[in-house]
Amino acid sequence: MTVSLLLRRARIALDVARQVEEAADGGAPADRKLTTILRRHREYGSRDRRFYGDLAFSCLRWRGWTGTVREGGALVAVGAHLLDHAEPVPEIRALAEDSGIVLPAENRLPVGSLPERAVRFSEFAGRPVRPEDLVPEWAPRLLAAPPGADHAVFLAELLESLQVRPPLWLRVRGRPAGEFAAELRAAGVDAEAGPRADSVRVLSRPHLEELYRLFGPCFEVQDLASQAVGDLCGPAAGERWWDACSGAGGKALHLVDLLGGTGEVLATDVRPVMVDQLARRARRAGTSNLRWRRFDARKPLAGEAPFDGVLVDAPCSGVGTWSRSPDARWRETEEHVRANTSVQSAILANVADHVRPGGKLLYSVCTLTRAETTGQAEAFLAARPDFSPAPAGAVFRLPSEGPCGAMFIAPLLRVAAGRES
Ligand SMILES: C[S@@+](CC[C@H](N)C(=O)[O-])C[C@H]1O[C@@H](n2cnc3c(N)ncnc32)[C@H](O)[C@@H]1O
Repeated sequence: MTVSLLLRRARIALDVARQVEEAADGGAPADRKLTTILRRHREYGSRDRRFYGDLAFSCLRWRGWTGTVREGGALVAVGAHLLDHAEPVPEIRALAEDSGIVLPAENRLPVGSLPERAVRFSEFAGRPVRPEDLVPEWAPRLLAAPPGADHAVFLAELLESLQVRPPLWLRVRGRPAGEFAAELRAAGVDAEAGPRADSVRVLSRPHLEELYRLFGPCFEVQDLASQAVGDLCGPAAGERWWDACSGAGGKALHLVDLLGGTGEVLATDVRPVMVDQLARRARRAGTSNLRWRRFDARKPLAGEAPFDGVLVDAPCSGVGTWSRSPDARWRETEEHVRANTSVQSAILANVADHVRPGGKLLYSVCTLTRAETTGQAEAFLAARPDFSPAPAGAVFRLPSEGPCGAMFIAPLLRVAAGRES
């Protein structure tokens, strides 16, 4: 390939990274913007698409060290790419040469621990950077280690995990995960059975619609950490559950599958777009015992008998999603954390009345700030003596366990009728 062609591709990649960054800073998810750009350019080949997408995400993930593409241009793109790839692709070599950037003879930027990499990147960039610069300033201050864990160790491990894109996790429905993984491999997808009996880890980036066309609704995309929420709900056959903040329905569909065709799940979300997405997924999955509607879970739910279980998978600062969606970290603020905390407590206070005596209330968030996790659960229990923590206690699912996202899950029990409160 000629140098001018390589340079042309590098400049397209740089432009895509800049557009994705601008969209992310304007509040749009980076992956959606990337999809829109790539859809507009059917002429791009599959290798180019992968390169453009990878570079845009490397720039978002390492932005705390490299600075923004908008301001730093080629230097940012080259630096971010070198942090993720020991051997730079020819397009990046051409871009570096054209921009007068000297590449290290042996690229050791992706090697070693994050503190070691910070030292090497500081030398490359000519200014000091630290691991904690990779997240917003408020994050290290507001994050909580699980009880008994050392805060510094927890933080160091969390920061490491946020810099690596986790694999895609599938929850397999009604068939052995190993068998499905083998069929995926036969179809050219790099997949293997995961740590749960129904989980599959996918290392390549398959076209999901194509997989549904080939295999039917025998799987749902669901992060490994999220799958733990359904397990802790543990609905018994015939029970009625309310998923009060259902989003696009990942956990509601898991509850339905755990109920095995018995009982019923009501899924609600305040945003109509989420309810529409859930409806599409529910129809594809062929569920019969799932109902859905738009609803603000801060309001009393009329016309429904008390539920055996209520799941509040609450809106949160989403720190646990920052490895998969690195752009999200640059949108979150300390004020958002405070605002989320008050929405979470309003929802919890309201839905608690819809749990039958003796029933369960599961509070979960895909974040790790103290205010939104243990702080929220403690405040709820202090205000509601008719609830107590489930015997096993709250669970922290950390990214290093997957690799996957992070979740905090607090299973609570409503004291059975007749007990003194
Ligand atoms: C963490 S997401 C839920 C993800 C979902 N459970 C899943 O597994 O895919 C939180 C959801 O809460 C919804 N939400 C925010 N405020 C709400 C409210 N007052 N009532 C109901 N849903 C709300 C948001 O629209 C968002 O979809």
